[in-house]
Amino acid sequence: STEPLVIFTPSGKRGHFPAGTPILTAARQLGVDLDSVCGGRGICSKCQITPSFGEFSKHGVTVQEDAISEWNSVEQRYKDKRGLIDGRRLGCQATVQGDIVIDVPPESQVHRQVVRKAASDRTITMDPATHLYYVEVDEPDMHEPTGDLERLERALQEQWEIGSITADLKILTRLQTVLRKGKWAATVALHKSHKDEAHKVVEIWSGMTEDRIYGLAIDLGSTTIAAHLCDLRNGEVKASTGVMNPQIRFGEDLMSRVSYAMMNPGGDQEMTNAVRTAINGLTEAIATEAGIRPFQILETVFVCNPVMHHLLLGIDPVELGQAPFALATSESLALNARDLDLNVMNENAQVYILPCIAGHVGADAAAVALSEEPDKSEDLVLVVDVGTNAEILLGNKERVLACSSPTGPAFEGAQISSGQRAAPGAIERIEINPETKEPRFRVIGSDIWSDEDGFDAVIATTGITGICGSGIIEAVAEMRIAGLLDPKGLIGSAEQTGTSRSIPEGRTHSYVIHDGSAEGGPVITVTQGDIRAIQLAKSALYAGARLLMDEMGVDTVDRVVLAGAFGAHISTKHAMVLGMIPDAPLDKVTSAGNAAGTGARIALSNLGARVEIERIVREITKVETAIEPKFQEHFVNANAIPHATDPFPELAK
Ligand code: FES
Repeated sequence: STEPLVIFTPSGKRGHFPAGTPILTAARQLGVDLDSVCGGRGICSKCQITPSFGEFSKHGVTVQEDAISEWNSVEQRYKDKRGLIDGRRLGCQATVQGDIVIDVPPESQVHRQVVRKAASDRTITMDPATHLYYVEVDEPDMHEPTGDLERLERALQEQWEIGSITADLKILTRLQTVLRKGKWAATVALHKSHKDEAHKVVEIWSGMTEDRIYGLAIDLGSTTIAAHLCDLRNGEVKASTGVMNPQIRFGEDLMSRVSYAMMNPGGDQEMTNAVRTAINGLTEAIATEAGIRPFQILETVFVCNPVMHHLLLGIDPVELGQAPFALATSESLALNARDLDLNVMNENAQVYILPCIAGHVGADAAAVALSEEPDKSEDLVLVVDVGTNAEILLGNKERVLACSSPTGPAFEGAQISSGQRAAPGAIERIEINPETKEPRFRVIGSDIWSDEDGFDAVIATTGITGICGSGIIEAVAEMRIAGLLDPKGLIGSAEQTGTSRSIPEGRTHSYVIHDGSAEGGPVITVTQGDIRAIQLAKSALYAGARLLMDEMGVDTVDRVVLAGAFGAHISTKHAMVLGMIPDAPLDKVTSAGNAAGTGARIALSNLGARVEIERIVREITKVETAIEPKFQEHFVNANAIPHATDPFPELAK
């Protein structure tokens, strides 16, 4: 061909185009991801590219300075007004003049892949439900009397090939002013989920907006509420934060909250109000942290267990407290944020709630399945998500089973004497020297161990405030390894253990991890009560996993994925020493961080993932722990550390 050759990097896509073709057009035709919000009008600046000059032996082309058009007036105007990085051009204005290599910088790539997972190397392509479009709308005309909304719809059809649109009253009341103020140019945020026929106008700006749009992925747990704020264009996480669930004052675990609703007229509404208020506060806080305005949050995805699900929705959870544990609905839900009184984020923000698996196995378990993909695994994988309620999945490509188990809040640092949420200052790592019985530890917000130089500086910045969930798991396991605890979980006296860190407390003993009382700081101990709380929690978790293994007809699993709520990854070795999980080769036990939160992010980023999880949930086999008599037997046997009867051969290695 005699037409100039255009090569895009980093994609390597190439093709011949007639001289005079805009780079954006060439990119479109080759399927190169080059962003544009204004549709090539030289307004949005999203289409920036970098032409490369010189020798390109790798690509077999020599690029001359005149291979691309000169600056045009649109680019000049843009450059004068806002500045363009040196060497950058607007892809919609620059045209092909000769053979050329064009680099698309990361900010200009639309479908940037966002959710990367170290274990599986998985990437998720951005395909969110909400996008921005710049559009120029015809002015009203005496001879052709149509409404502003209809002319906006027509413009979107012509300029963006968008089908029909809808807008509710909140948008309609502003539409006329916004269009006129922008001299008939506007940027609209359109939302269309896999369930919608039409695009919904969720926000509109006069002219071309510089605002970015964001989504929240919220893991609404019984004890903590964790949120990620994500850029809806490229999936980047701008801020992550968590708060305690204020419903704790109505009951520490799910069943006590259901009882509260049963015993107190209006109690369910009280809890609904509490959690919605907390989410509004969290929205405010995360927007401030990211330096954005809350109205830029146009979408929210929730994952939660069934009781939290109903309480968020304002549905009385009493049916979930008794067999047969019927949900009001197990389907996924698409709602307006304002239906849930979430009025800090944009008033038109759209909410998606993942489907629940069953009355005891919620949307959080669905999110874990979406993130960890047991349904795609060749080998038999056990996935446990440790929270106040543990979500447990067991399966492979053939079949996936799911249950949940009431572990209580101990793994999240609640019900523990020095326990706290994972936050700066919380002890998250502990080692105990088996000879001297002396501990060393590390707190969140620092990477210095307590016995290293410079720890004073850490104390000055973050302080030592308590122990978080992963910290208490390590503490108990290390105490067992160091002989401070017997297999039944009893803490030995100072004489029995040979350390003055074991101090009497009533008829039991406590182990002192940190005594900051000299400086007025906290005294952090592990008490016999703490050990009991952890034993109950881990027995419930183990019993749930065993039940699924019974159902699957297996005694061992090939690998284990340990996921946990917000904060540090759980130490797989310590989890096994404690007997939280069945025996498996240690190198086959991995830690996945907050898998439910990751699942929520995936559903926020990619519409296809929503379709996928709705299908997977229908195929999962539910196992009900509460009515299964074997559960109690498994629970009792799992009370010992690591276990009364089941062997742990891998641990002995
Ligand atoms: Fe908007 Fe080029 S596409 S400035």
